[in-house]
Amino acid sequence: SAYDAGEHESYMRKEILEQPTTAQAVLRGRLDDRFGTAHLGGLDMDARDLRAVRRVKILGCGSAYYVGQMGAGLIEELARIPADAEAASEFRYRDPVIEPDTLYVAVSQSGETIDTLLAVQEVRRKGGRCVGLVNVVGSAIARECDGGIYLHAGPEVAVASTKALTNMFLGFALLALQLGRVRDLSIADGKRLVAGLERLPAQIEEVLATESELVEVAHVLAEAQSLFFIGRVRGFPVAREGAQKFKEISYRHAEAYQTSELKHGPLALIDPDVPTVALVPSDELTERNLGALHEIAARSGPLVVVTHADVDLGGIDARRVVVPRNEPELDPILLTIPLQLLAYHAAQHLGLDIDKPRNLAKSVTVE
Ligand code: G6P
Repeated sequence: SAYDAGEHESYMRKEILEQPTTAQAVLRGRLDDRFGTAHLGGLDMDARDLRAVRRVKILGCGSAYYVGQMGAGLIEELARIPADAEAASEFRYRDPVIEPDTLYVAVSQSGETIDTLLAVQEVRRKGGRCVGLVNVVGSAIARECDGGIYLHAGPEVAVASTKALTNMFLGFALLALQLGRVRDLSIADGKRLVAGLERLPAQIEEVLATESELVEVAHVLAEAQSLFFIGRVRGFPVAREGAQKFKEISYRHAEAYQTSELKHGPLALIDPDVPTVALVPSDELTERNLGALHEIAARSGPLVVVTHADVDLGGIDARRVVVPRNEPELDPILLTIPLQLLAYHAAQHLGLDIDKPRNLAKSVTVE
């Protein structure tokens, strides 16, 4: 085919490394520096339609569901519209209430995931409006939706989604920006985010350049039978996605938790054999996050902290993974990139088939 892994050991690594370029593709022609907004022609909604949206419900499976949670956070922060994500595989089974002023968003790399497709059909059958964030042009979900945003990530072959997931996040950022700017998001904030989005591809490149430092960390994690990924608010969906990647390709038990919930249960499991990967961006929650790290360190739990350069871990014994700072709302995606590399190198260390993990399919098209 025209798309092969070339000299790369795997499609997954190739797709990880493509991200600075593919991230540009989803943003191209959609950012407006002058008015600090985004233009998404494919949505087929004018300013009036956008202003009429009272709630956003995001539907996806697997990684698309987790990035949907990141997207819901962006929409709530930038547009101040209540938003949440739900596993599309559950949605139709609970006879969901479909509201005319809710915007439903289906998110899918392949556009063929049967659970997501049936969720879209459920929305439309009950008279709701559903738009798509889809990578594959002309796919079943894209055709079933009322309009949407194509992700332009190019073909993704590895089962574990990387570049498509990054573009899903960016697609949500564009949608949140446009929804925000027809409401109360100021032009100054709009411009701040446009500039942040324009900086992102180069910052993704910076994270990828730290790959060699992540290899040793990944090898340590690969030796553990069980590990935690923790984060809160913006960081929690990142932790879920990080744990998902890790378990999918390394077959280690990886569990995501809100850092704030640690003391309500999982702290009982922390010991020298159970490492924790903690997401600690520099933001209003840094101090509280550091408090939880002290609790883990006091129980000799090995720590990997994905953080920003200005965060001082004090005396906490941890391996630090530093990502560049952007606007805080966009932190989730830069925090996600090193987790892709950690999962990749752990699986590589264990000698596993990275592109085709056991028991999993790239897209699940039958019920
Ligand atoms: C499968 C894959 C996952 C993927 C999910 C959704 O379960 O194993 O990696 O995230 O489907 O796929 P989609 O094509 O809808 O994004």
